Amino acid sequence: MSKNPFDFEKCEILAIDILTDIEFTFRIATSITPNHGQFCQVSIPKVGEAPISVSGAGEGWIELTIRSVGILTKKIFELKIGDFLYIRGPYGNGFDLDILKDHHVVIAGGGSGVAPVRTLINYLYNNENYASSVDLMFGFKTPKDILFKDELEKWGDKFNTIITVDDACGVDDGVCEGLITKYVKDIKLSEFSKMKVIIVGPPLMMKFTALEFMKYGVNKDNIIVSFERNMSCGLGKCGHCKIDEKYVCLDGPIFSYDVAEKLID
Ligand SMILES: Cc1cc2nc3c(=O)[nH]c(=O)nc-3n(C[C@H](O)[C@H](O)[C@H](O)COP(=O)(O)OP(=O)(O)OC[C@H]3O[C@@H](n4cnc5c(N)ncnc54)[C@H](O)[C@@H]3O)c2cc1C
Ligand code: FES
Repeated sequence: MSKNPFDFEKCEILAIDILTDIEFTFRIATSITPNHGQFCQVSIPKVGEAPISVSGAGEGWIELTIRSVGILTKKIFELKIGDFLYIRGPYGNGFDLDILKDHHVVIAGGGSGVAPVRTLINYLYNNENYASSVDLMFGFKTPKDILFKDELEKWGDKFNTIITVDDACGVDDGVCEGLITKYVKDIKLSEFSKMKVIIVGPPLMMKFTALEFMKYGVNKDNIIVSFERNMSCGLGKCGHCKIDEKYVCLDGPIFSYDVAEKLID
């Protein structure tokens, strides 16, 4: 008998890392092996279900970095180590690693947009010669909103890493003030035909960052964005995520910008 695609796995919470007041990373036990940039449908019975990107993965576990915004996520924040989350997946296309090989890769993230690119960055970090060079740019609202501080520092050892905050709140600890679009000019853009730019964050941040790179000559089809859109089934059956002919849950959430710009509402 074929497996019910809506079946979920009951996963024990192994660890909880408190990143900010409203963003926690949950490590859960699971047998799934996601690709970079894929997401899972995460639920608590009788509470709700939501798509959450995989922000970390290892032998027998994955990590989910969750922002407490609504009914389900607030309930998840009440859970403790040893409690259970229910997941199905992984879903979505994920990042195509092949197209990054030997390219100059720029990864720009806004706020919790670091989560879906975290495993990809760690892959590039551990496989130093995979890309010809890597630049990281991350923008946060204020210094206290900076996520994955220790890892940002570690990545900075190998990759040119620009961290910006909209408002430094008078704190001077090496971060730049202003939106990340302001710092695109500081990326070495001489080889833009070989450049792949990945942008993940709120829709407006993705749009204006993409436009800024395009201003310097990066082609739309070399810009890759991750599209967050409300979903229901996550597996191409309900049509909830469908825009034009694209199912964001199946064809995405990763799209090249020449496709994504037509999907932005
Ligand atoms: C592919 C994909 C990947 C994602 N990855 C992540 C991730 O890694 N981490 C993460 O934290 N999120 C992620 N999200 C977003 C997450 O799925 C949503 O935030 C989800 O809605 C949270 O569920 P919830 O039940 O807690 O929130 P909901 O209760 O559904 O609330 C969602 C939003 O609606 C607002 N809202 C709720 N009720 C009302 C109301 N009555 N009136 C007005 N506004 C209201 C809330 O303030 C909140 O902003 C992802 C989404 C997609 C599509
Ligand atoms: S979420 Fe149901 S078709 Fe995409």
